[in-house]
Amino acid sequence: MIKADVGSVSGHTTVHPQQLEVARQFMEDARAKGTISDYYVTHAGDDLELIMTHTMGEDHTSIHELAWKCFKEVTDKVSKPLKLYAAGQDLLSEAFSGNVKGMGPGVAELEFMERESDPVMIFMADKTEPGAWNLPLFKIFADPFNTAGLIIDPGLHGGFNFTVLDVVDNIAVSLKCPSEMYDLLALIGTPGRYVIEKVHRSDGLPAAAASTTRLSLIAGRYVGKDDPVCIVRAQHGLPAAGEVLEAFIFPHLVAGWMRGSHHGPLMPVSADDSQNRVSRFDGPPRVVGLGFQVSDAKLIGPTDLFADPAFDRTRETAGMVADYMRLHGPFMPHRLGPEEMEYTTLPEVLKKLKDRFKKV
Ligand code: 13P
Ligand code: 13P
Ligand code: MG
Ligand code: MG
Repeated sequence: MIKADVGSVSGHTTVHPQQLEVARQFMEDARAKGTISDYYVTHAGDDLELIMTHTMGEDHTSIHELAWKCFKEVTDKVSKPLKLYAAGQDLLSEAFSGNVKGMGPGVAELEFMERESDPVMIFMADKTEPGAWNLPLFKIFADPFNTAGLIIDPGLHGGFNFTVLDVVDNIAVSLKCPSEMYDLLALIGTPGRYVIEKVHRSDGLPAAAASTTRLSLIAGRYVGKDDPVCIVRAQHGLPAAGEVLEAFIFPHLVAGWMRGSHHGPLMPVSADDSQNRVSRFDGPPRVVGLGFQVSDAKLIGPTDLFADPAFDRTRETAGMVADYMRLHGPFMPHRLGPEEMEYTTLPEVLKKLKDRFKKV
């Protein structure tokens, strides 16, 4: 999965149908040429999402270049001519340099041997940062109160290894669960800095991958939120699809929302509510889930995972939490802390007041 916000309609709300059309044609051509095996182009709010299958492995230049060119073409052919909002927002450099990581787009790649049947779930968030996946990924692969299979299925008793990236120093560590669970939580409880990048079963089977791009850290300024994506494989020696979804029943607080500067609840929503209705205070932050079967590298599906009315109560709670958080107005902890606000325009405001402070 490679994704980017390359401009949107009515502020940061949604992509334009012509952007999807251009991206789909681009992917169709790549499939005809054999660069990719299959694709599914969609969007989460204002983020254009390219779901691709291919046989060239992770970090392959041809695939990254394909995605980069696709985003450029959508920007040049649609976003700019239509004067869409923040045209090319996430494309932080002019020329492609071998890998889109570090250039703005979000990337989640998972290389695996297809099992006899391989359910793969794709999660796409809007108005938040990659650390938003920390809590649900922990629950899916390490919390027996969420995932019954951790107790019932002997295949899961070996546990899972989490690769955690420190997005500030660009270093990574691998931690085993359950044996190193406390160490893992000591890191990932700071989601702005420590981000789960990969999860493998104890025998090495690839289970999940998440995008880790922090746009503000690359650009040195606030350009838009990262709006991360995540790939999770399910069933048969892995958590069941329903166990994966159960991790999203709690609309936990994440950073993002208005101007990328506020904490709000992560609300699981249907594809339609993800794509066309990201509006209240530019949010609240939300996640959409699409379920596929990967079959001979073809994407069969998708199903709209959070369209189930059983998630209505979560959405209602998210609405209540959104009201509660909004009542804080410009006060923390609704507004993010100073270390995150450093990348926004707030420091300019504070600079204006600097000379007016008197010694006491
Ligand atoms: P079905 O009986 O509907 O196949 O469901 C099996 C199952 O294990 C669900 O978690
Ligand atoms: P996006 O990251 O979705 O572009 O949103 C940016 C923003 O500032 C919303 O208020
Ligand atoms: Mg945007
Ligand atoms: Mg977005």
